[in-house]
Amino acid sequence: MRVLVTGASGRIGSALAGYLKSQGHWVRGFDLVKPSDQLDDSIAGSLNDNDALEQALDGVEAVAHLAALMAWHPKDLTRLFEINVTGTFQLLSAAKGRGLKRFAFASSGEVYPELNPRSLPITEDHPTLPTSPYGMTKLLGETLVRNLGAQHDIPYVILRFSHTQTADELLDPNGPVSGPRFHINAKIRQLQGMPQTEPVQKTIAALQAVATVPEQHYISLNQSGEPFMMGVCDVRDLCKWIALGLTRDAAVGETFNIGGLHSFKFDEAIRYMARVTGLPVREVRLFTTDYRYETSIQKAVDVLGYTPEYDIFKMIDDAATRRPAPSV
Ligand SMILES: NC(=O)c1ccc[n+]([C@@H]2O[C@H](COP(=O)([O-])OP(=O)(O)OC[C@H]3O[C@@H](n4cnc5c(N)ncnc54)[C@H](O)[C@@H]3O)[C@@H](O)[C@H]2O)c1
Repeated sequence: MRVLVTGASGRIGSALAGYLKSQGHWVRGFDLVKPSDQLDDSIAGSLNDNDALEQALDGVEAVAHLAALMAWHPKDLTRLFEINVTGTFQLLSAAKGRGLKRFAFASSGEVYPELNPRSLPITEDHPTLPTSPYGMTKLLGETLVRNLGAQHDIPYVILRFSHTQTADELLDPNGPVSGPRFHINAKIRQLQGMPQTEPVQKTIAALQAVATVPEQHYISLNQSGEPFMMGVCDVRDLCKWIALGLTRDAAVGETFNIGGLHSFKFDEAIRYMARVTGLPVREVRLFTTDYRYETSIQKAVDVLGYTPEYDIFKMIDDAATRRPAPSV
């Protein structure tokens, strides 16, 4: 199949474009940052540029729409809507009348109120009440895909990704996602870049009270002392999920939670991680977020016919094989 991957220079899009090519598909990458020359075709352009979109869609049979802004700082609000909502509208409008066989939309678990779920595990019929503007733009993107997909006769599938990482990123204190999630100094740096609300300031103080150089891991606890819980998906599993969303007939018109094998509790996962990194582990009660949720991927397993290979423990094991032993 001839597939357009938007966001093909991103963390997931670059892996997806390579994976689809390895599976025999013809792949065109589209991104603000010029995608790899290893693809069949590669276009540098913006979702907000109609001429670039016409060029990107020319001759393709399917679209994996991953291009987006992932941002949580209030200064990024306008761009979030321009890219994730208006950009998705422009792409769907440009796709009208082209006879696309599939349009897969990269949505997010943030369409749910993950900080305050009404029921666990979160299934696809859980109310969608995003708690971040980013989550809101993903929900608006879904609405556009459903409505314009139906109007323009574009067979679509909506994939609500959970947090996705490469295994190596999990152990990287400077990694974009896991750095602040699992490492004290990285978390302090992240919070110092956020608006200095009272919960942010109190959390920085709690982290600074135990911070040292060199870096340490921390286990996020809520104010009752309960460890955080969430899911993570290995990017290799995610590529397989997206490929199935693009090719399985049963996916058309459906919305799926997409994730890894199991959710994890931070205390268990971080103590396991520390066996590989050799870093000390501290427990810290946070005042900012309280992530204690679990998302069901059962519908995707049943309909798309795939069971993911990785949970966080297998990802840590895998990353450990590429890492020197800790010097303790
Ligand atoms: N990584 C995760 O944990 C996660 C979780 C849920 C959903 N998602 C979704 O998956 C998709 C890919 O995520 P990622 O982690 O690879 O993000 P990423 O930031 O690494 O990649 C996004 C890509 O989109 C491109 N882009 C941004 N604005 C653009 C524009 N106007 N025109 C063209 N390209 C543009 C960027 O240059 C970047 O290469 C996104 O839609 C994201 O919302 C990611």
